[in-house]
Amino acid sequence: MYVFEQKAELNKFINQAKAEGKSIGFVPTMGALHAGHIALITEAVGQCDIVVASIFVNPIQFNNPDDLKKYPRTFESDRKMLEEADCDAVFYPSVEEMYPTKVVEKFNFGSLETVMEGAKRPGHFNGVAVVVKRLFDLVQPDFAFFGKKDFQQLAIIRALVKQMKSDIHIIGLDTVREKDGLAMSSRNTRLSKQERKTAVELSKALNFIKQNKNAFDPAHLESEAINMLKTNFSVEYIQIVDGNNLHPISDWNQTNYPVVCAAAFLGDVRLIDNLEL
Ligand code: PAJ
Repeated sequence: MYVFEQKAELNKFINQAKAEGKSIGFVPTMGALHAGHIALITEAVGQCDIVVASIFVNPIQFNNPDDLKKYPRTFESDRKMLEEADCDAVFYPSVEEMYPTKVVEKFNFGSLETVMEGAKRPGHFNGVAVVVKRLFDLVQPDFAFFGKKDFQQLAIIRALVKQMKSDIHIIGLDTVREKDGLAMSSRNTRLSKQERKTAVELSKALNFIKQNKNAFDPAHLESEAINMLKTNFSVEYIQIVDGNNLHPISDWNQTNYPVVCAAAFLGDVRLIDNLEL
């Protein structure tokens, strides 16, 4: 597997693959890879001739400097995992390589970025869009693979591709979970042993909503779930939305695709999860 730290090297590799008529699959990540990331790589390997991953802890999408500082960085083990998953190349740029000059791009995603993560993490999705657009321009993939774990991010990426008038196919894949149900996340490694045990309650609360969907309205279930969590977590939101446009719903009739999304702090680790209902 090739490791490219420079845009120019990556560019050469991409041009060669394009000249040979090969299809390119792309999996952008921030590293600290786990089975959720590898599921995206495996899907890409199955669908595309060439698979490129990127590992870049994107500073401009962190609204909390402490979160950026503590974000796990494990390049050597990431490289091995990618290689074992048959990834062809990984782009691993420095911050200077990615952002040689001040970032000025401003995107507008309308109501997609004013709810949930957008409301709680100002500037976050602009930072995601800036880096993903730059990576798309470099890698020029035919297919790009994202996890539904970051449900709102996936909606933003679909909107970005539309705005770019790009024909990149965006593939969204199901959340990979630990045996007990906790959604896999790079941030899980920051949980203490006790917190790791408690963390499963988040997915349990979302499952509780799914199981009781027919008996109660959305607002009641949201507040029940918050009650279930409030002893151990500091809940930022539990929101049932129309999965097509992320509009909060107050009645099940408002959508054929209800999804519950949640964010909560466990200690100083911020966890997110969601469930299609
Ligand atoms: P990161 O959090 O590293 O996630 C990279 C990709 O892996 C995202 O598409 C994310 O949704 C997916 N992913 C994470 N956990 C998953 C799980 N348990 N199951 C399935 N997929 C999972 O998301 C980012 O990085 C960044 O915002 C990025 C898009 C790379 C831009 O910087």
